[in-house]
Amino acid sequence: MDEEPTRNLALELARVTEAAAMVAGRYMGRGNKEAGDQAAVDGMRYMLNTIDINGVVVIGEGVKDEAPMLYNGEELGTGKGPQMDIAVDPVDGTRLLAFGRANSISTVALSDRGTMLDPGPIVYMHKIAVGPIAKGHIDLEAPVPDNLKAVARVKGCDIDDLTIVVLDRPRHEELIASVRDCGARIRLITDGDVAGALMTAWPESGIDILMGIGGSPEGVLSACALKCMNGEIQAKLYPRNEDEEKQARKLGLPLDKVLMIDDLVRSEDIFFSVTGITDGELVDGIKYYGTGCRTHSLVMRNLTGTVREIIAMHSWDKLMELSGIKYDIDHPGV
Ligand code: FBP
Repeated sequence: MDEEPTRNLALELARVTEAAAMVAGRYMGRGNKEAGDQAAVDGMRYMLNTIDINGVVVIGEGVKDEAPMLYNGEELGTGKGPQMDIAVDPVDGTRLLAFGRANSISTVALSDRGTMLDPGPIVYMHKIAVGPIAKGHIDLEAPVPDNLKAVARVKGCDIDDLTIVVLDRPRHEELIASVRDCGARIRLITDGDVAGALMTAWPESGIDILMGIGGSPEGVLSACALKCMNGEIQAKLYPRNEDEEKQARKLGLPLDKVLMIDDLVRSEDIFFSVTGITDGELVDGIKYYGTGCRTHSLVMRNLTGTVREIIAMHSWDKLMELSGIKYDIDHPGV
């Protein structure tokens, strides 16, 4: 194969998540998760509309808690380029941001039109995710000890060397007890399972497996990134009640099936970008320094498997002259 290199949209997506993170980061610790989310949504929409794609949002965010959203079905991009599905999470971890906690990130993914799973009304998915070494050695429906044994074996370590990331929720009481019984370490997170899933494929993070029930949109976004990073995620839609289940059955959603990574996103050409808002194991948070700020992003493409780490320095004076984005906020108390 000696094909010409094609356009890598992930590099353009870096500017999208950078802009969202730069405006959202202003709200760190201010206790207002909607304001941070709204700023990120506006920044993300503005930048996505500058890219030459004909995109439709398949994975929007916000229905669950009526947050300001980039809504499903919204058309984005200049309309001139390829037809793409778009998955967005302008802030994954709105509470993390509002309370200044670790691992709040901004993410976006693109894939060929019609290739991302639309989970419809199903808010949650049961998930298990790992990085490249443990790929092919997990089974969502196997007991916890079996998965831990298999991952420890293939990583050449003991179970007590493994670190499992789990959302700290009452619904995970049994899961947590079982991981503890096996002797593995646990990183309980209050929010943000997209970062949790990506960490499994990022050796510097020290995380081996993500387990538990989290958001469905976040599951599809994680699948986009893990496919680029050569990791694995398996998931099963998890209706919260009979009504959700009924709606899903009407829509023909695959409720009874373990969804493999290719069921979550079928495309072989996927582009993904993540920028840190608050500091975390995956990426650094935004650092503001008067004349500008520093961002840290990972951008990736499934076709080539290249993951780029991008540290960027942004200059307010120049940006504010050029851009329609408002990079600062007014402080009524000053
Ligand atoms: P938000 O950023 O929309 O608040 O979502 C954060 C998050 O922790 C996700 O990362 C996770 O998938 C989901 O919420 C878990 O949902 P819940 O808080 O209802 O358990």
